[in-house]
Amino acid sequence: MQFFVTSAAPSRQRTDCAIVGVFDKGTLSTAAEELDRKLGGRITRLVKRGDVRGRFGDTLLLADASGVACERVLLVGLGARAGFARKQYRRALSGALAVVARTGAKDAVSYLSLETVKDADSYTLARAAVETVGNAQYRIPDHKTSNKRAKSSLARFGIAAESRSDRSAAERGVTHGEGIVAGMRVMRDLANHPANVCTPTYLANAAKALAREHGSIRVRVLSEDDCRRLKMGSFLSVTEGTTEPAKLIVLEYNGAARGGDPIALIGKGVTFDTGGISLKPPPGMDEMKFDMSGAACVLGTFKALATLELPINVVGVVPACENMPGGRATKPGDIVKSMSGQTIEILNTDAEGRLILCDAITYARRFKPRAVIDIATLTGACVVALGNHLSGLFGNDQDLIDALRDAGQRADDRAWPMPIGEEFAEGLKSNFADFANVAGREGGAITAACFLAKFTDGLKWAHLDVAGTAYVGGSAKSSTGRPVPLLVDYLLSQ
Ligand code: BES
Ligand code: MN
Ligand code: ZN
Repeated sequence: MQFFVTSAAPSRQRTDCAIVGVFDKGTLSTAAEELDRKLGGRITRLVKRGDVRGRFGDTLLLADASGVACERVLLVGLGARAGFARKQYRRALSGALAVVARTGAKDAVSYLSLETVKDADSYTLARAAVETVGNAQYRIPDHKTSNKRAKSSLARFGIAAESRSDRSAAERGVTHGEGIVAGMRVMRDLANHPANVCTPTYLANAAKALAREHGSIRVRVLSEDDCRRLKMGSFLSVTEGTTEPAKLIVLEYNGAARGGDPIALIGKGVTFDTGGISLKPPPGMDEMKFDMSGAACVLGTFKALATLELPINVVGVVPACENMPGGRATKPGDIVKSMSGQTIEILNTDAEGRLILCDAITYARRFKPRAVIDIATLTGACVVALGNHLSGLFGNDQDLIDALRDAGQRADDRAWPMPIGEEFAEGLKSNFADFANVAGREGGAITAACFLAKFTDGLKWAHLDVAGTAYVGGSAKSSTGRPVPLLVDYLLSQ
């Protein structure tokens, strides 16, 4: 999909389809008004007949708009003008796209951006449009042998902007949106693959492919032997039950002059989480192929960084392995020594994410990062606490937490601040090791974060628990590409 910004009025825009809004009770938007005049009052007549009411979600296609430069006009109901905010803008655009995709239109231009949207400017609207259109075009890399979904003919998408300053803001929004969509696509493709395709080796190869594609990215892949030499006893304990080799993938993006301390992104890369000896129950276990979403998000964010050529330095550390039961698998009660030197009593082998992340955090110290952010489908408890719309946001530095929360807000990819602290960590006490890998059932997302916090002394650290947001289950089962938008927005603000 190619995106562009245009300043032509809809009646003068050469396009296969102009998308214009109509508010409640048939009140025409500025773009609809302009077209209505050039169409001899045709839209007003449709309003009078009751065919256009402007209820949110309504659409009406004028498939033969003669007398104006656009071939078709798609009227989109926007609901009450007072309630028209970013969320409604994105939804209205999605609805419009579904209709356009069913026509033969090769290109379309959205005029919805000309309306006052309560919480947005030209930059935000253009970026949101590119994200909405780009993600609507996304297709799962499926393995279906028939019934391939027909591709829509839509190849170009325009966003209207009025003044000169609006134009340049919109163009910036388009560029950033394209980078975000490219990153989300990388993440979604990786996470949507089944676990017999997307193994730790596959993830490592995907990272190497990124490095071949972009000169600004370098990748090193460490083997299990390398990790043993590094004394990553905690990470390695998770991979004991499988024959699939684990990998530690290290990415470096260099966009700034040497010496600029990097931001470290750490992604949980459990390519399948059976729970190990603490085996999970069967229902929905297939979704544990998404347990590498944090890893996929790091690769996706690197794709966006390189696409946008952002002037910063970022390192990625991705511990990747399977969590399987087996004759050599780690058993409840086993004690391991983490790379930090701290010992861990593994009371539940299903709490494996924290075991691989803690060694990755320790490893990241060698890059002297100015901030460390881990991304992980870490706990079911986070989904219970926050549902599927908000990622859990934890950390030990209020400025970093605030910056990530604000980025999520701006990017429509929200994260919600959650507490950590000594009192919550009490349950991690162990009679046999420095601490255990699980506490009680209560506050499970918090105790998981408290476990990670034990490895972050002297680091500015934040943790995103994306168990509820990185993918959707049910009939729409797929990776969402989140939290790539949040992270890219944060990195854009650096
Ligand atoms: N990968 C899971 C967390 C998860 C659960 C992600 C549901 C997405 C949806 C993680 O490794 C896990 O199993 N966590 C346990 C922790 C518990 C044993 C303390 C959990 O959440 O039940
Ligand atoms: Mn688990
Ligand atoms: Zn897991």
